[in-house]
Amino acid sequence: MNAVSVPVTVKMRLGWDGGSVNAPELAKRLEQEGAAGFCVHGRTGRQGYSGRADWQAVGAVVRAVSVPVTANGDIFSMRDLERCLSVVGAAMGMIGRAAMGNPFVFAGEEPDIPRRMEAAKRHFALLVLDKGEKTACLEMRRHLAWHIRGLPYAAHYRREVSSLSTAEDFEKLLRRIARETGGSG
Ligand SMILES: Cc1cc2nc3c(=O)[nH]c(=O)nc-3n(C[C@H](O)[C@H](O)[C@H](O)COP(=O)(O)O)c2cc1C
Repeated sequence: MNAVSVPVTVKMRLGWDGGSVNAPELAKRLEQEGAAGFCVHGRTGRQGYSGRADWQAVGAVVRAVSVPVTANGDIFSMRDLERCLSVVGAAMGMIGRAAMGNPFVFAGEEPDIPRRMEAAKRHFALLVLDKGEKTACLEMRRHLAWHIRGLPYAAHYRREVSSLSTAEDFEKLLRRIARETGGSG
């Protein structure tokens, strides 16, 4: 880490598997090597996404080092974030899956369908600007599944998405979803 002049932070899980949880020791060694902070997902590699994130175990990393630790894993709302921070004793939390198709999570809001579809439209428009129409369409197939999570007919719309390849197709579908699920479109 001393090879670069910018601060380097490290993202890690708890360890390889339940028998080899070594995040606190590893973090300590990396801190000695100059790591400026850590983000710890409270699962082992072997766990994948199964079970629940072990926030207590993330707390052991907080106590092992003196640089900031960001807690991660199974934070799905602002209420979860507060609970997590108090269990972990960390200053910050990081939200992964709950942010997908749901930028509102950071404001602690649970928006109605029209606002969700507006967010999907804006996301798509920004993707087109950033990456061009072709790539935006490919990437939006995946993102749209998150934007419509929990909506009526979501499975049906997900199937339709896989055949869309132009910005116009997407915009049309987003308008239709808003209309058919009770939004304004
Ligand atoms: C689509 C997706 C991509 C991810 N990519 C990375 C990655 O490149 N590097 C990484 O360290 N973790 C990655 N993760 C894991 C998350 O950073 C996070 O540790 C994990 O999802 C647990 O947090 P969550 O319960 O809030 O989702 C990814 C997760 C998702 C869902």
